[in-house]
Amino acid sequence: MNINSSTKTICLLGHPVKHSFSPSIHNYLMKKYNQNNIYVCFDVEEKNLEKSIEGIKSLGIVACNVTIPHKVNVIKYLDYIEENTKIIGAVNTIKNEACYLKGYNTDGVGFIKSITDKGYTLSKKRVMIIGAGGSSRSIAIELASKGVDYIEIRNRTLYKAKDIAISIKDNFNTKVKYSDEAIDTKSLENIDIIINTTSVGMETKECPIDKNIKPSKDILVCDIVYKPHETEFIKWAKDNNLGVVYGIDMLINQAIYAFYIWTNIKPSKEDIQYIRELYENQRL
Ligand code: ATR
Repeated sequence: MNINSSTKTICLLGHPVKHSFSPSIHNYLMKKYNQNNIYVCFDVEEKNLEKSIEGIKSLGIVACNVTIPHKVNVIKYLDYIEENTKIIGAVNTIKNEACYLKGYNTDGVGFIKSITDKGYTLSKKRVMIIGAGGSSRSIAIELASKGVDYIEIRNRTLYKAKDIAISIKDNFNTKVKYSDEAIDTKSLENIDIIINTTSVGMETKECPIDKNIKPSKDILVCDIVYKPHETEFIKWAKDNNLGVVYGIDMLINQAIYAFYIWTNIKPSKEDIQYIRELYENQRL
């Protein structure tokens, strides 16, 4: 990368940011598509968020990603929030247009791209989402906005599942249900897509559902956990001959969509493959 006096900065604001994979993804894409930008990470404590956002404007930082713990708090400092992002209530991507800061959430869109890239469709689909945190919210809202027929949210803390259900009911036509009950074979009878959005299985051998369940029909099984690549949930799906979507796909696709928002460039399938390999190599 040829850094010169015209090079602009794009950054990640988070705390911590040390192990972020985003610089590898974006610096590869910036170079590949001849964008004179450099992507760096800033470790920003909560008390310094407002000043950091002022800094984005005063230093002419052209764009940023936002991660834990700032995704919700950053909203109050932005000038515009995209429609679905407003409903989600959390921002992970900002574009600075001449000091007018626009906020987006690319998690749900990235997740949907992971499914449609594999040839699956969403129309008339019945979806079960396990978990009711930030990722669940963004995926549920994007799925509802794409017109899936039905969304059922399962979470051990009922009120969080209810909150998401209310947001869907208030804004979309998608039928919605929520529950804190454990999933059994019967509850999967009418489900086409099941998504784990909890951290269960992250670097452990735990599975978010009972592995003895034998679904009576074909279901697409998606996990947002990407460490390990093959989670127990994905293994359960494969043991039952079900289709799978891996967590790494959503991780990469949310970044690809942010890159598109910033540059209007759509990276290729080969880029996605290259980034996947980059991730695998960094992991070793
Ligand atoms: P993220 O922003 O990645 O979605 P989060 O907002 O912390 O992360 O949400 C994590 C989700 O995983 C929550 O729904 C959480 O359940 P609670 O709402 O009851 O806290 C769920 N989760 C985390 N660990 C879990 C576990 N061991 N069993 C079941 N659910 C779990």
